[in-house]
Amino acid sequence: MIPQKTVQEILETAKVQEVVEDYVSLRRRGVNLIGLCPFHNEKTPSFTVSPAKNLFKCFGCGKGGDPARFLMEHENLSFPEALKQLAKKYRIEIEEVKMTPEMAAEQAERESLFIVNEFARSFFQDQLLNTDVGKSVGLSYFKARGFREETIKKFGLGFAPNDRDAFIKKATQIGYKPEYLQRLGLAKNGRDFFWNRVMFSIHNLTGKPIAFAGRILQKDVKAPKYINSPETEIYTKSKILYGAYFAKRDIRKQDECILVEGYTDVISLHQAGIENVVASSGTSLTEGQILLIKRFTPNIKILYDGDAAGIKAALRGLDLVLEKDMNVKVVLLPDGEDPDSYLQKVGATAFKDYIDKEAKDFILFKTDLLLSDVGGDPVKRAGLVHDIVDSIARVPDPFKRSFYVKECARIMELEEQVLISETNKVVKKILQKREFDRNRKRPGQVHIVPEDSPPPGEQPLPDTNVRPIQPAQKELSQDEFQERDIARLLIAFGGEIFDPEDEITVAEYILSNIEEVLEDFDNPQYQGIVKECLERVVAKQPLSPRYFIGHQNHELSALSIDLLHSPYEYSPGWEKRELYLHSQKMPDDNFSKDSISALLRFKLKKIMRLCEKNQQQLKGLNAKDDVQKMMRLLKVQAKLNEMRNELAKQLGTVVLK
Ligand code: CTP
Ligand code: MN
Repeated sequence: MIPQKTVQEILETAKVQEVVEDYVSLRRRGVNLIGLCPFHNEKTPSFTVSPAKNLFKCFGCGKGGDPARFLMEHENLSFPEALKQLAKKYRIEIEEVKMTPEMAAEQAERESLFIVNEFARSFFQDQLLNTDVGKSVGLSYFKARGFREETIKKFGLGFAPNDRDAFIKKATQIGYKPEYLQRLGLAKNGRDFFWNRVMFSIHNLTGKPIAFAGRILQKDVKAPKYINSPETEIYTKSKILYGAYFAKRDIRKQDECILVEGYTDVISLHQAGIENVVASSGTSLTEGQILLIKRFTPNIKILYDGDAAGIKAALRGLDLVLEKDMNVKVVLLPDGEDPDSYLQKVGATAFKDYIDKEAKDFILFKTDLLLSDVGGDPVKRAGLVHDIVDSIARVPDPFKRSFYVKECARIMELEEQVLISETNKVVKKILQKREFDRNRKRPGQVHIVPEDSPPPGEQPLPDTNVRPIQPAQKELSQDEFQERDIARLLIAFGGEIFDPEDEITVAEYILSNIEEVLEDFDNPQYQGIVKECLERVVAKQPLSPRYFIGHQNHELSALSIDLLHSPYEYSPGWEKRELYLHSQKMPDDNFSKDSISALLRFKLKKIMRLCEKNQQQLKGLNAKDDVQKMMRLLKVQAKLNEMRNELAKQLGTVVLK
């Protein structure tokens, strides 16, 4: 815990320009400084730093904030971590408070484990670079694979000699406790765990080595090709992606994460300038790994070896990724190639072209692939429908779902309606399961058990999509209710075409109508949503429910989910329409109508409020005030009344004078 006083001191001392300049080169423009935004790809600078306000802001991607925020975004740090980094930079001493002796001991333990691992990394590296056998066996192997020396150092590659106890000897000689070597999986039964292998360090997100993998060099040995550190106090396999530390910046910048299988694939691609790449290390993706990627981007591109026998099984595992509302593309590499070998073969440019060109949407790819298998067999074809529908139904975004239904119906030469109703059945089941599960989790509430809900005790589906609706929302002020309405429309339908004739979107329509009252929002969260929409619209970036649901700001993401699933009193059937799939034609384009009336209601509210304020001011005038001020207020009043009546007329409501 950092004392509040110190937090203040850090925030007051840190200069945005100095912090940003550690990462971005800036040049002066007027009172501000500008540079190329580190958070998205751009050729002309729209990243602005204001020393006066001590803030940064990118007008391209919308990121902005104070020096601490910059570090949080750029280095993927938590707030306390960012504060600590700033404190270090400005030599502000942090005396942490409220650290119990147990906490301190635990932290010291963890620190020790990291220190031992760091020693191991340097030992393996030293063996590789500075010993005869390391150089002739290990280094020459890496060089033969095309790894440059700077890459070898960057990724913490190394060599474990053949001695069976070389590492233990050295480590204990220096004074590291054997117990720690054991706990980290570096030693086993008093002997080195890794020997006669080239070594790979596995880093956590802050770049510390938390585990190792050793690859065998001989081709014809029975021993496994790789051995990996066991899980330890500082290494949870399911939450780590190999290469994530080196990739995170570029993943964010490219707004895409490339997923490969092997350590060497990551290193090769990275060396070739494709840095947004991580590896699942040969296993299928876990939920923790997916969420890790999602912190940086909702877009994932998976590269598969051309001859991967288990590709269909692998595809099945991807439903979990769909459920997390990620956009998944897959690329099949040519027969017999893995990313590393193919890159070495064709070079970086051709490789990039290939993966761009060959990337296919996962669901469509799966449909194609399965279809090519079943041929004309009607029974198999029916099975295929279930398989595809099962994937589609997991996509939380109703718009995306309806896109897939359309496309898959086309590919499979099926009636769209058939696919719609099949998908809806599964969607409904999933929702009911979640509803059921939620009810069960909230004791003291009425249990509404849907008819065909699963029996108690059945494993619930992960509750990622629907969050409980907080009772507090029922107590929103009238104004906030209108604001909520606006925010919800923007999230749900912002990217939809509002008026086909002039191709204006719902967001453009709403935003162009409320820009002037944007600062008057009561609820900062709804205001934030509207502002973010505005920024995106200005930057010509697309809006979709998916964007908000997958938002990096978890609060915003949770709020979006709530809004999208809120049972509020919109037009009848609203909820259904939203949760389930609509058929290809939007029933009477309700969202356009909803937008108009929500906007009118919202504006009316705001105008009424301005009227009140103005009248208060008029009342408060006294003889000392000049006539001019009174005239001005009266004019404003007349104008407001006029606007109010106009709005009321449009809404079909009568407002008495
Ligand atoms: N793997 C593992 N243990 C094994 C085999 C594989 O942990 N016995 C993991 C490693 O993370 C490996 C990945 O699965 O990187 C992919 O395996 P593979 O394609 O066989 O290895 P590559 O990384 O391609 O290694 P190389 O190119 O050196 O053969
Ligand atoms: Mn390989």
